[in-house]
Amino acid sequence: MPSLAVKLPQEQPKEQKPILRVENLHTWFEVRRMGFFKAGDVRALDGVTFDLYEGETVSIVGESGCGKSTLAKTILGINIPTKGAIYFEDQDLSTLDKQGWRNYRSSIGYIQQDPYGALPPFMSVQRILEEPMKINGIRNKEEQARRIRQVLEEVKLAPIEDFLPKFPHMLSGGQQQRLVIARAMILEPKMLIADEPVSMLDASVRVEILQLLQGLQTKHNLAIIYITHDLSTVRYFSERIFSMYGAKIIEKSSTSALLKEPLHPYTQALFEATSDPDAENLKTFKNVPAGEPPSLMNPPKGCRFHPRCSQIIKGLCDEHIPPEFQVHEEHIAACWLYKDHQ
Ligand SMILES: Nc1ncnc2c1ncn2[C@@H]1O[C@H](COP(=O)(O)OP(=O)(O)OP(=O)(O)O)[C@@H](O)[C@H]1O
Ligand code: SF4
Ligand SMILES: [Mg+2]
Repeated sequence: MPSLAVKLPQEQPKEQKPILRVENLHTWFEVRRMGFFKAGDVRALDGVTFDLYEGETVSIVGESGCGKSTLAKTILGINIPTKGAIYFEDQDLSTLDKQGWRNYRSSIGYIQQDPYGALPPFMSVQRILEEPMKINGIRNKEEQARRIRQVLEEVKLAPIEDFLPKFPHMLSGGQQQRLVIARAMILEPKMLIADEPVSMLDASVRVEILQLLQGLQTKHNLAIIYITHDLSTVRYFSERIFSMYGAKIIEKSSTSALLKEPLHPYTQALFEATSDPDAENLKTFKNVPAGEPPSLMNPPKGCRFHPRCSQIIKGLCDEHIPPEFQVHEEHIAACWLYKDHQ
């Protein structure tokens, strides 16, 4: 994959305000046997805490099934949390009424993995972009036209008049994803959640779409949660990286510190395997490190990574859940190797 011709963003100035606070978030899905008897819970999110700052881009990485999309959907209000809290601009989401939820949802743009699946096939580009405005009470035709023109210009679907009557199947994969991004931007959000936004696209188009997202981020000072399997892109795209394993965030760091020295053995294995930026990351990512991901219905005792970890401290890691240790100023790891850093 060609590299992104963009600079690593500046690290987060400390004085910036969190736009989003996620505290001890749990999302469990009940599993029923024969549709009747409770067989247990899939603990898809199991105690996740972090802040996202205004205008900040954070990448979330982790292998398939570790809970990345569940985290995105819980923040978006599509999944209901079992426990914990989410604050957006200091407002506890659990206290929002119907209108409050509508305002909140209009502040967040959502970009999914599969652009075609995300677009209603029988609606034209114009209707797809009008729909969120109608739902959110923007009925003035001139205002609708202004916003449509602006977002289509921003995502570079031009000439605009040619695209407005088209249906999703008439667009290429890259154009469909541009349209999904335009729809996510139409309500002028403060935050974007992009869940594997480029994984279904050709390599050449991926770079264009990521550059487009980065341009929007800078222009509108958007906070972005970027979920990805493609580790070759995170170094160019995000200020911080969170590494997820078994429904928990196990490492949080500035991008530069994590790329210099990943601390958690799981993150070390991930990044070692993808240090070649031209490697086929999707394939290598899934096979590294060796061993099976943990069951989320019956997770291993202690550190969830211990059955796969070559640095396990017997009697500690397999018994006790590691808390987060602040190893460096901007670098936290939930791993017993750092127990002397408190
Ligand atoms: N609605 C649901 N009902 C039951 N289980 C679910 C539901 N949604 C997700 N899960 C389970 O929760 C776990 C986490 O799923 P999730 O989709 O969040 O993973 P992911 O990290 O996004 O994976 P991928 O990289 O493959 O997209 C998986 O075991 C999944 O099967
Ligand atoms: S806590 Fe122990 S088992 Fe878990 S990653 Fe650290 S060293 Fe490995
Ligand atoms: Mg997912």
